[in-house]
Amino acid sequence: MDRKQVNTVTPIDVEAVRRDFPVLERKIHGVPLVYLDNAATSQKPAAVIEAMNRFYRQENSNVHRGIHALSEESTADYEAARKKLAKFIHAKSRREIVFTRNATESINLVAYSWGLDNLHPGDEVLITEMEHHANIVPWQQICRRTGATLRYVPITPQGYLDLSTLDNLLTEKTKLFAFTAMSNVFGTIPPVKMLVEKAHAVGALTLVDGAQAVSHMPVDVRALDCDFLAFSAHKMCGPTGIGALYGKAALLNKMSPFLTGGDMILSVWMDHATWNEIPHKFEAGTPAIAEAIGFGAAVDYLNSIGGMEAIHHYEQEMITAAMTALQDIEGLRMIGPPPADRGGLVSFVMDGLHPHDIAAVLDQDGIAVRAGYHCAQPLHDRLNIHATTRASFYFYNLPSEIDLLVQSLQRAQKLFGR
Ligand code: ALA
Repeated sequence: MDRKQVNTVTPIDVEAVRRDFPVLERKIHGVPLVYLDNAATSQKPAAVIEAMNRFYRQENSNVHRGIHALSEESTADYEAARKKLAKFIHAKSRREIVFTRNATESINLVAYSWGLDNLHPGDEVLITEMEHHANIVPWQQICRRTGATLRYVPITPQGYLDLSTLDNLLTEKTKLFAFTAMSNVFGTIPPVKMLVEKAHAVGALTLVDGAQAVSHMPVDVRALDCDFLAFSAHKMCGPTGIGALYGKAALLNKMSPFLTGGDMILSVWMDHATWNEIPHKFEAGTPAIAEAIGFGAAVDYLNSIGGMEAIHHYEQEMITAAMTALQDIEGLRMIGPPPADRGGLVSFVMDGLHPHDIAAVLDQDGIAVRAGYHCAQPLHDRLNIHATTRASFYFYNLPSEIDLLVQSLQRAQKLFGR
């Protein structure tokens, strides 16, 4: 993401970090697990599992409610996790971090909360053809309800955004530009800062879908100047069921609540209610407390193994090696840009082999990948590809696992007589 030259980073000790992940010791169909489905969800280190375990064993109680020791402890830990996230993405204040269920809910929060109040017929929302369904469908729904128009930045056959269209698509009608910071199919890392600047130049707000990027590279919301950033814990070593929305405080302050109920209110009368301050205004009901604490532990863990610069650097090496190895397989075609312009994932098609058959053969060899549309059907339609197989890496994958992937793909070709 507008990446600076990676200078000297302390390399990650991959063999050592692998020992932090209990599931990586598993055998699948009698052979060691090779987990290459990290773009779907990452594995969890013992530190995260134990942080959640400790919460339930020693501290379990509700937050922001009780005048008793346990509730004070759990409130402090829940809020400490929020502070860790704010620091991780360089937000100005913990008040700018709203806990949600996942990146999808974060995007829906902005769509419903900001969109319903601010979009009108004649307004436009701009997204891109490389979005995940989570950054398409909420905008379809909100545009339908408000009369605003949804527009798309097209993709090129090489898997880039067609930036030559931006000056036509971004106009004074554009009220919001929502785009991914890393495609979950191409791996493409668009020039986020430049896109934010261009949107701001026409007075549009920006929402960055960071579901793939925040887990794999440094993301600094103040440097990017984006207005909103959505991300999920489970893709960055944290638990499922929790994500976050970063929003600039001035915007969050002005927005209506998304969900309503307990904790998000200041006072409730028979006929109306007033709202709590941010971020609590957006957190109705008992939140996912253990998960928030696990999210904070995930951030601590990522920092402890060397930080996001080191993780990004290692994944660049892995994706370069993987794409070099895959290009030697006859009949295999990768989609998307070269390694220098992408994160650590690669999607491909193979002559005469359905992605589901490929994934099934790989599974027999203990290798987990994802096959299908990857929740990005418009992207596949645009490329005229029915489905793809995707291998996605994280900092705990080994170069030897690339060799196993290649061998298994060759076995699939033999099995299906290709
Ligand atoms: N968004 C996740 C993926 O791309 C689930 O697999």
